Amino acid sequence: MLILGIESTCDETGCALVRDGQVLSNKIASQTNLHEYFGGVVPELASREHAKHLLPLLDSALEEAKVTLQELDAIAIAYGPGLIGSLLIGFNTAKVLSLTLNKPLLCINHIEAHLFAAAMEQDREVEFPALGVVLSGGHTALVKMHSFGKFELLGQTLDDAIGESFDKVAKMLRLPYPGGPVIEKLAREGNPNSFDFRAGKVAKPYDFSFSGIKTKVLYTVYGQNGQIGEQEISHSVKCDVAASFQRAVFDDVVKKCMKAAEQYQCKSILMGGGVTNNRALRDQLTATGLNLYLPPFSLTLDNGAMIAGLAAWKMKNSLPHEYTFSTPKTRIAF
Ligand code: KG4
Ligand code: ZN
Repeated sequence: MLILGIESTCDETGCALVRDGQVLSNKIASQTNLHEYFGGVVPELASREHAKHLLPLLDSALEEAKVTLQELDAIAIAYGPGLIGSLLIGFNTAKVLSLTLNKPLLCINHIEAHLFAAAMEQDREVEFPALGVVLSGGHTALVKMHSFGKFELLGQTLDDAIGESFDKVAKMLRLPYPGGPVIEKLAREGNPNSFDFRAGKVAKPYDFSFSGIKTKVLYTVYGQNGQIGEQEISHSVKCDVAASFQRAVFDDVVKKCMKAAEQYQCKSILMGGGVTNNRALRDQLTATGLNLYLPPFSLTLDNGAMIAGLAAWKMKNSLPHEYTFSTPKTRIAF
C-alpha cells in the first residue's frame, strides 16, 4: 500500500511516501531561518511558505521514491491541531489531489502521528496498554493508549508547552530560535545544580506547568528589577541557566512518566515530538529501565512520514479515517 503523507500544521512543510510501513522518501522544508528573526513562528508567514514549498516538495518526494501520483493508494493529511492558515494550505492541496486522482483522503491527527513515529522503523511490536508522551513545541501531554486511535488523556500542560518553554528561555538568553537544540548544547557545558529551578506545581498528578520556571529564569538572569544588563550575562552563566532549566523540566517529565507507567500498568512508553531530539532526555529516560520507544531522529520533528505511516496503520486495521466529500453537509470522519 503506497501512501502520500502531507504535513503543514506549523512551520515545517512535509511530504513523504510510505509503502507498507517503509519510508521511501521524507522531504521537509523547514521555516526555522525565516521565523528565527522574530523569535517564534509568525502564522501569516508560515502559511505563505507552505503555499510556496508544498508542490515542489511533492515533486521531489515522488522523484526520490521513484513513484508517480497515479500509483498512490491514498493521500493522508495532518488535519490538526495546528495553525489554521497553515493547515488550510495542506488540507486544500490534499483535497485537490484526492479529488483529481480519485484516491481516498485520510485525515490524521498530528499529535497521534507524533506518537506513531516512535513505533516506525522498529523491529518489535508495541505492547499495549502503552503510555504516550507528547513533548513538542505546541503540546505536552500524557495519554494512556489502548491502541493507536484509542486514547485516554491523563494530563497536559496548563500553560506553555515544553518545547515552547525551551524557545522562550532561549529568547531570554538571546539565543537563536528554535531554543531546544541550543539550550541542549549549552547545558552540556553548564552545572545543572547551579540554580534551584523547578517545574510548576499542579493539582492533578499528570498535568504540567512550565510558565513559572520561565519567570524564575528571567529574574535569575536579569535580577528581580531588571537591574542586570544583557552584556553582563556571561557565557558560563548562560550554560548554567540552560543546564539547570533543562534538568528541572526533564526531572518533572521523567518523574511523571514513571509514575503514570506504573499506575496504569503500561507495557511500553511511546515518546513523540521535537523535544525527544534531546539526548540528555533520551539518556535520562533510558536509565529508568522503562520499555521505551523513541522516534528515529529523522521523525522527531514535524514530517509527512509519520502522517502516512499512521494512515497506513489505520487503513490496515479498518479504523474510520476517511474524509467524506459529501454535500451539502461536508464532514470529517476519523
Ligand atoms: O514537534 P515539533 O516540530 O513542534 C510541534 O509540533 O509543535 O517540535 C519543535 C519543538 C521546538 O519547541 C524546539 O525548541 C523543540 O521542539 N526541540 C528541542 C530540541 N530540538 C527541538 N527541545 C529540546 N531539545 C532539543 N534538542
Ligand atoms: Zn509536531
